[in-house]
Amino acid sequence: SANTMWGGRFAAGPDAIMEAINASIGFDQRLAAQDIAGSRAHAAMLAATGIITDNDAEAIREGLLTVLSEIETGKFPFSTALEDIHMNVEARLKDLIGEPAGRLHTGRSRNDQVAVDFRLWVRDQCDAADAALEALMQSLLGQAEAGADWVMPGFTHLQVAQPVTWGHHMLAYVEMFARDRSRFADARKRMNTSPLGAAALAGTSFPIDRDMTAKALGFDRPMSNSLDAVADRDFALEFMAAASITAMHLSRLAEELVIWSSAQFRFVKMSDKWSTGSSIMPQKRNPDAAELIRAKIGRIFGANVALMTVMKGLPLTYSKDMQEDKEQVFDAADHLLLALAAMAGMVADMEANVPSLEAAAATGFSTATDLADWLVRELGLPFRDAHHVTGSLVAMAEAKSCDLPELSLADMQSVHQDITQAVFDVLGVKNSVASRTSFGGTSPANVRAQTAAWKDALK
Ligand code: ARG
Repeated sequence: SANTMWGGRFAAGPDAIMEAINASIGFDQRLAAQDIAGSRAHAAMLAATGIITDNDAEAIREGLLTVLSEIETGKFPFSTALEDIHMNVEARLKDLIGEPAGRLHTGRSRNDQVAVDFRLWVRDQCDAADAALEALMQSLLGQAEAGADWVMPGFTHLQVAQPVTWGHHMLAYVEMFARDRSRFADARKRMNTSPLGAAALAGTSFPIDRDMTAKALGFDRPMSNSLDAVADRDFALEFMAAASITAMHLSRLAEELVIWSSAQFRFVKMSDKWSTGSSIMPQKRNPDAAELIRAKIGRIFGANVALMTVMKGLPLTYSKDMQEDKEQVFDAADHLLLALAAMAGMVADMEANVPSLEAAAATGFSTATDLADWLVRELGLPFRDAHHVTGSLVAMAEAKSCDLPELSLADMQSVHQDITQAVFDVLGVKNSVASRTSFGGTSPANVRAQTAAWKDALK
């Protein structure tokens, strides 16, 4: 039989396959609470402007509360024939309250309705991402505080470069995740305008009050152009762009944890809570959570690209293509929040292997730059010459299969006669990191100050 919403124009109902491709209720039921909030705001406004009676508005309000509680308690009879959450809610409202339900859709369309529902949902996800990022930052700060002066190798090209502190490395991620928070906050601010009242695309002849509904739903103001209001999905794309950058950061950290927990590195021991064993190899302790985070990032990037691709070919205004926005964003948001929570737990519970970090820090001639700097500072060599002298000393140590501090003073002086015993002070990794006191540098003193400042900022 023909659809109850538009049956006036139709003699027959849809093909079963049409119903399958067309229906979104399987996923957009996640927008139920937002849909009901939007309808409540709309109904209250219709009454305030005299478009419907107060009695009808009250019946609608009570009916919507019943619908919401049916949905929350799992008693709601979702129907694929009713296509989507908007029509499911309205049809149920009609069952419950009869005729006034038919007045709810005055001056409104599913086009502005879905736009408002989805915006509200994405706005909540920005808040959830913000809270999850803050929790992760707290985990990293815990590690930074514990290990402000633990020395580890800093890498470029994954080759040992210079000694750094564990705390400094943790704080590098704190900086990244703080930028991520600001991206979500920025996107949230921009998305916080209301499409409700744009109606199908052109606005409406009813004397609606869009400021009133915008305010009731926590938006800063109504969107200014009705065509843009129903055609725009920038808010979802901005959310996924911010999510993608966050995900990229998570993946880099996950990659480091996978490398660091290997037997070759032994920089960290992941907690039992975040590891798995092997069914055949009894010795195994696998960093599965880190690997899964690294892998899930692909879904988030994929969702972002998928929605960009859906949107790029659409003429104004609404096209049914846009129904494909929701699953992408739901999946990206779910996996982002899961990955953030897993990372926060893993980081909080992991244990640095301090002796192993320090031993690794001393390998690979990691204090060669300190030696060159010493030649500049103490002997007045131009840096380029100091670099050359140090390069020769590294070659000598390599030939002797030893590290720089193991060369004798005579060895040193054979390359540059003015080198003194004092040079050995700068070849130790602890002295090396302690000397990096320039702003933003790796010294334990800097790390302590930065950690304290961050903890203060997050309080
Ligand atoms: N289920 C639709 C969506 O998710 C709701 C809007 C439908 N509007 C329309 N004109 N068919 O996009």
